[in-house]
Amino acid sequence: MDPNEAARTLEQELERGRELIGAARTLEALDEAKIALLGRKAPISAVQSSIGSLPGDARRELGRRTNEAFAELRSALEARRSELEEGAEDELLRADAVDVTLPGRRPRPGSLHPLTLVQERMVEIFTRMGYRVAEGPEIEDEWHNFEALNIPPDHPARTMKDSLYVDVPGLLLRTETSAVQIRTMESQDPPVYVVVPGRVYRREAVDATHLSVFHQLECLAVDEGLSLADLKGTLEAFAHEMFGPQIQARITPDYFPFVEPGAQMAVSCFVCNGVGCRVCGNGWLEQGGAGMVHPNVLENCGYDAERYTGFAFGLGIERVAMVRYGVNDMRLLVEGDVRFLEQFEGVA
Ligand code: PHE
Repeated sequence: MDPNEAARTLEQELERGRELIGAARTLEALDEAKIALLGRKAPISAVQSSIGSLPGDARRELGRRTNEAFAELRSALEARRSELEEGAEDELLRADAVDVTLPGRRPRPGSLHPLTLVQERMVEIFTRMGYRVAEGPEIEDEWHNFEALNIPPDHPARTMKDSLYVDVPGLLLRTETSAVQIRTMESQDPPVYVVVPGRVYRREAVDATHLSVFHQLECLAVDEGLSLADLKGTLEAFAHEMFGPQIQARITPDYFPFVEPGAQMAVSCFVCNGVGCRVCGNGWLEQGGAGMVHPNVLENCGYDAERYTGFAFGLGIERVAMVRYGVNDMRLLVEGDVRFLEQFEGVA
């Protein structure tokens, strides 16, 4: 390469270098520019290898200029590199930035389950009327669950088909809180005014209005002179306290071995107000069984059935919750879906 051409090449390379380096927006682009400008195949390398074949003065002159060009390109590359590295750091910092002025996320407090809310409210209504709370075991014997309740050995409720027995003969998961009527009367003399909230078990298909494990609130009153009117009045007082004065309570005849007469309790539907709709069918929502305590039951517990009478009823707590909160499928109450449960935050 002749010295003039070499000098021109150096000028061009310096010019091209300023452009390439200035245009590099990333560290990768800068590496590419470096290879293009200073690599083995770069024009400046060709100039460098031609230096040796030149005569003395020209050689020194081109050598100096070539070194200068190298130095200038290197320092431009270096300067651009630190610019880009700084920018990359800024970018990282920006992506990682924490806005310390944002309000914190509060831990969410849990809330009571709707069934607990309803049960507590029911118990409160009855304790205000003068009732006390009694409890009994969930694994019950046949005497308390059946025999003493006037349920004869051949009654269908006693079969494996309807009840859940445990491995110990004569024991089963209680099918109704009525078993605690017996335990209460065995342990105290009349008068009796108790309510018994608790879980009961039945071998039953689960659907929108039935569960195989559910809750009842049993009520038992035994005293001198109690009549069906007291039962009706108590139920109505409860329904009005629980659901509001617009709700009507109704009892219709039904059969349970441990009451005579026996009844079915219902309240007017919260959706249609007793007219009849998809939720209730005929305008009424079943709440549980009721009746006057059968004299045999009183006698089984050593009470004088000539002197004392009593009434009892068992309210389905899930059913009460459905009316109170307008829930149209009982399964929602046991599935534990947060989207359902969180609607009860702050509810009383
Ligand atoms: N134990 C009955 C049931 O579970 C309800 C009931 C209670 C009926 C008290 C009469 C008296 O269906």
